[in-house]
Amino acid sequence: MHIHKYERIWLTFGIAMLIVFLTIVGVNAFMMGRNPPSGLNEIDPDHVRETVPFNHPGLHKIGDNRYELDIVSSAFSYDVGTSDKVIKIPKGATVTFRAATTDVIHGLSLAGTNVNMMVEPGYISDLTVKLKNAGTFTMVCNEYCGSGHQMMYATVEVVDNGK
Ligand code: CUA
Repeated sequence: MHIHKYERIWLTFGIAMLIVFLTIVGVNAFMMGRNPPSGLNEIDPDHVRETVPFNHPGLHKIGDNRYELDIVSSAFSYDVGTSDKVIKIPKGATVTFRAATTDVIHGLSLAGTNVNMMVEPGYISDLTVKLKNAGTFTMVCNEYCGSGHQMMYATVEVVDNGK
């Protein structure tokens, strides 16, 4: 069987790319443990407020420069444990944002940072980030959840301890 020269080049190129991409995916998944979220962190959506850690929403220090911000999402507010919905976090801290919803799907996003996750009924969503830049960041809901969707927000102030 005769295979044209160009066809042979492209076949070789295609197979080589396939091997390269599968190797990258394989190394990431099996050697570096980069997998999609397991979805195993389940919660009874009817008893979010009675379930640890959402029975005490807010910012908790869990170690040296390590914090956890537990957030109860509901139509149409984020309960971050403070009456003014303002959370102050020291600059450079590593923070785990952990959220659950008592009703519908919300989209928790901290504008200007990489924090962006869906909060689905029955599941706990979490994301750990290092807050490198000082400033005032607004936590918004980016998933339309009803008539008060635009009212759903809280404020995260990343404060520079040097000041
Ligand atoms: Cu919650 Cu939109």
